[in-house]
Amino acid sequence: MCGIIGYVGRSQALPILLEGLKRLEYRGYDSAGVATIEEGCITVRKEVGRIEDLRRAIGQHPVGGTTGISHTRWATHGKVTQENAHPHFDRSGKMALVHNGVIENYASLRTQLEEEGHQFVSQTDTEVLSHLIGRAFDRSAERTTSAMVTAIREALQLVSGTYGIAVIHAELPGVIIGARRGSPLVLGIGKGEHFLASDVSAIVGHTRDVVYLNDYEIVVLNGEGFTITTLEGNGADYNVTKVEMTDEDVGKGDYPHYMLKEIHEQVRSVTDALRGRLSHEEATAKLGGLNMTNAALRSVERVILTGCGTAFHAAMIGEYAIETLAQIPTECEFASEFRYRNLPMTKDTLVFVLSQSGETADTLAALRESKRKGHRTLGICNNVASTIARESDGGVYMHAGPEIGVAATKSFTSQVTILTLIALLLGRIRNLSSSDGSRIIAELEALPAKIEQVLTLEAEIAAVARRYAQAKVMLFMGRQYNYPVALEGALKLKEISYIAASGYASAELKHGVIALVNEETPSIFIAPNDALFHKNLSNIEEVKARGGPVIGIGTQGKGAELSLVCDDVILIPDAPEYLTPILASIALQFFAYYIAVELECDVDKPRNLAKSVTVE
Ligand code: AGP
Repeated sequence: MCGIIGYVGRSQALPILLEGLKRLEYRGYDSAGVATIEEGCITVRKEVGRIEDLRRAIGQHPVGGTTGISHTRWATHGKVTQENAHPHFDRSGKMALVHNGVIENYASLRTQLEEEGHQFVSQTDTEVLSHLIGRAFDRSAERTTSAMVTAIREALQLVSGTYGIAVIHAELPGVIIGARRGSPLVLGIGKGEHFLASDVSAIVGHTRDVVYLNDYEIVVLNGEGFTITTLEGNGADYNVTKVEMTDEDVGKGDYPHYMLKEIHEQVRSVTDALRGRLSHEEATAKLGGLNMTNAALRSVERVILTGCGTAFHAAMIGEYAIETLAQIPTECEFASEFRYRNLPMTKDTLVFVLSQSGETADTLAALRESKRKGHRTLGICNNVASTIARESDGGVYMHAGPEIGVAATKSFTSQVTILTLIALLLGRIRNLSSSDGSRIIAELEALPAKIEQVLTLEAEIAAVARRYAQAKVMLFMGRQYNYPVALEGALKLKEISYIAASGYASAELKHGVIALVNEETPSIFIAPNDALFHKNLSNIEEVKARGGPVIGIGTQGKGAELSLVCDDVILIPDAPEYLTPILASIALQFFAYYIAVELECDVDKPRNLAKSVTVE
């Protein structure tokens, strides 16, 4: 996924573009660039590395102009080089374009253009799109904005794949043209100025009045106003939305990293996930956004949960919760697998897609595949205006606030909270008793205070983390609801510290994994005070017998027993099996965070990653 921001108005564009790129850097940060129109020419500056590298490079050669576009890249086609950084020129050198997405047929288009004499300086699909648009415009008799829009329409009809683009041309000062298919674009409405960005976090410091573009729409913006049309050339209706997010939400506050801020936001984010969704008198959850009557929910005979990465791990916990509390056959699938499988599904199969960003390409494709087959498909998203949220038949918003750190933290615990609400709702219209429902509600209402208790363990967990920071391999183990927690704890650690961490169902240890155990390989066991505590204890003993160091994540009341066998013990509050994953995963978020800090890794922008993968 990449970040795009464009500005047109009365102010100098450069500082606005650089500040917006900084807000978008979590979307991709291999390289960055800007293009502005100044005195009838387009000036482009682009650098490999971070926004700060670009800012320093520009500092020596400032660029002026009140119309500009900019881009921060997560490489899909072509290595991380200055030539491959965006913006990209067309053949004339008078048009510049930035792009988020993948042009799947770029190779054949490039060959065709090369046969016409076009020469390319990069390996990217984006430069091909730029030449395609420039060629159409240069063939036009007119040199007007309308002719450019026609040229963009013509070029986009030729491409397959996804795009969110912003285009400027030296002969059209004061104009930016945007278009989208499959990659988000949002228009910001200012006073005498307008913005175009891949997400609102880049522009909330300037305006909170926005228009979310839909697929196959083209927007023309200038200082005074904007028009939105469809790819076919028809007018397009739009709604102006007041963004809830504030500039403060997208800042780090007093925290050194977004990830640490977002770990500490989980009391509020879980509280907000529960707000208004618990019915004491009916001892159930109220989820109006599902857009399904109880009768329709009662007819559900099977549930499929799908997502990617951390969202998939949350889905795994949801599978346990729905099967336990509602007794409905449930399975979770990687979105990237689900979309190609031919799962035997009936009309009574209900599909949930989970996605914090609401833009993950594989998850969006899974949603569309499910709907194509006529299944009711519901979204559990954080980004309210995201493509997945808008294309779902209904769903439940996470209300977790912006999650900027690439490593998912609060979005995971919000997803698990919401899946617990869904399990409660489905259970209470089946066999779950009113007293069971009331007990679950009481446990959910007690959850934020327990999260607060886990947050107070930060220093203790940091000390344990530092002791194991030099490990090259780390094993995470858990049973039942905590097997996905082991997977998630391993993912957190590997993605921000680059340690080869892996997660397993505890009992799997003896079926091969234990071959990895030695004095240098720590094992982390999530071993709460549940029916399988002693089974976990046996597995810990198996590791200890082979000299492997063990960290136990236990619950209060079992500290003494765990301390007899573990090298280090972290005790989290006791909670029902379906809520322990939330508390244990927060402890493991701190664990991963402090190891990454100890190793001086870039916690918020880990190498090779991006916050949301909007390409397949
Ligand atoms: C997890 O820490 C990663 N950031 C990644 O696995 C992420 O969960 C995955 O890409 C799904 O993103 P989404 O929730 O925005 O769809």
